[in-house]
Amino acid sequence: MSSSQQDKSVFVTGAGGGLGFAIARAFVEAGARVGMLDLNKGLLDDAVASLPSGRAFPYVCDVSRRADVHAAVDDFTQRTGGLDVAVNNAVYFNYAPLVEMDEAVIDKMLDVGLKGVIWSLQAATPHLIARGGGTVINLSSIAVSFSIKNAAVYTSIKGAVDALTRQQAAELGVHNIRVNALAPGSVVTPGASSVIDEDGWRRRAERTALGSLATPEEVAQAALFLASDAGRAISGVTLKIDAGMTVLGP
Ligand SMILES: NC(=O)c1ccc[n+]([C@@H]2O[C@H](COP(=O)([O-])OP(=O)(O)OC[C@H]3O[C@@H](n4cnc5c(N)ncnc54)[C@H](O)[C@@H]3O)[C@@H](O)[C@H]2O)c1
Repeated sequence: MSSSQQDKSVFVTGAGGGLGFAIARAFVEAGARVGMLDLNKGLLDDAVASLPSGRAFPYVCDVSRRADVHAAVDDFTQRTGGLDVAVNNAVYFNYAPLVEMDEAVIDKMLDVGLKGVIWSLQAATPHLIARGGGTVINLSSIAVSFSIKNAAVYTSIKGAVDALTRQQAAELGVHNIRVNALAPGSVVTPGASSVIDEDGWRRRAERTALGSLATPEEVAQAALFLASDAGRAISGVTLKIDAGMTVLGP
């Protein structure tokens, strides 16, 4: 299949399931070769097995381990000849009242959701510069835009991801590197379903202007757009993919 992603090298963290897998699959279907990093080996094996052979490169790795992330990105870049797109998606979800959260949980959320994005950015940037340009896509959330019960740490992390996106867009533009974020609304995934019950999903669908939630595939299409030539003038933005949830408010 010919597209503007043809033979691009794309690295996605948290690519074993949920939105990361949908994004990895969309890039593969558009002709890219995709490095898929995930902590969960079983999930990653199944994800890679479902894709055409030779297009997906699995890395069982904890994104919070800086040296391991560098090694994975370096290896993928060596095997595919460079890097065009980095998608920083991995997350550790936990919702609870702030005062009840213990230090270990907060550390893990920060290590995966914020430091993991920083490690991936540090690993990817030299390769994108060597390529003469490229695209970074960080996964933010519309949760930054309004209050969500029990999500103080999660939303703080996503607010930081937004700030990091803008800072890196300013810093890396000179290298022809565009840095943007995607802010999904509520999307049914294994991770989100660990903190949202069935009634919660129903209520969220009712709170979209369009009457139904965005799907993982629709979020993935937005990632393809941002990474394509059609997005050439877009950098430093957070693009909401929320079926009109934000405009209705919480
Ligand atoms: N699903 C939603 O409703 C929603 C809404 C807004 C934003 N987001 C964001 O989208 C991104 C993906 O969310 P999702 O719903 O697909 O999550 P998910 O939990 O379903 O998938 C996350 C993936 O990351 C992997 N992972 C977890 N910890 C890891 C680690 N330490 N190292 C490497 N991989 C690790 C998991 O194994 C899993 O495959 C996240 O950044 C999330 O904050 C999701």
